[in-house]
Amino acid sequence: MIVKNYKLKKIAIFASGSGSNAENIIRYFSDSTEIKVVSVLTNNHNAKVIERAKNLNISYKIFNKSEFNESVEFLNYLIKEVDYIILAGFLWLIPTRIIEKFPQKIINIHPALLPKYGGKGMFGTNVHQAVIDNKEKETGITIHYVNEHYDEGTIIFQKSVKVELNDTSETVAEKVHQLEYEYFPEVIESVILKK
Ligand code: GRF
Repeated sequence: MIVKNYKLKKIAIFASGSGSNAENIIRYFSDSTEIKVVSVLTNNHNAKVIERAKNLNISYKIFNKSEFNESVEFLNYLIKEVDYIILAGFLWLIPTRIIEKFPQKIINIHPALLPKYGGKGMFGTNVHQAVIDNKEKETGITIHYVNEHYDEGTIIFQKSVKVELNDTSETVAEKVHQLEYEYFPEVIESVILKK
């Protein structure tokens, strides 16, 4: 008899806004026996991701800046309950104390082809508008490990999409979201299962 020797890997998703990626990831892993989304964590009590978590029966936590940066309880929760942290539209810089406890275990998605259009302030429409303003012929997604600087950790995966002359920041955002939905869960899975 073959006995599978693996431990269920637990994910927490951090999100500050809508959370459509968070929902997509939760749905993707809902039947998995190897990976489980255990919680959604947000800094924003108005974030739509909270409604999504409730509807999907995933527990959620809302935290403030001092809990995030200083609370021992918050850090201990992560250490005890979580193997991987996924950032899906999360806007705060991750503090060193969390990064140190999760080496190569925090993964972010950025809605452009890093190193272009990354760094502080480069989120949401700002990114897509900059792509349009600079008349880029392509944009895309970057999935990367997280370090102490915005959008600078080692790149795991990139996928590009064409920007057409009639594209606007809204249509570019839509194209990029489609790529995110298609690839982010799979990339998370292959990193965690080391496929
Ligand atoms: C995504 O475009 C992601 O790349 C970026 O923030 C956006 C979040 O969108 N980091 P949503 O909240 O998942 O809809």
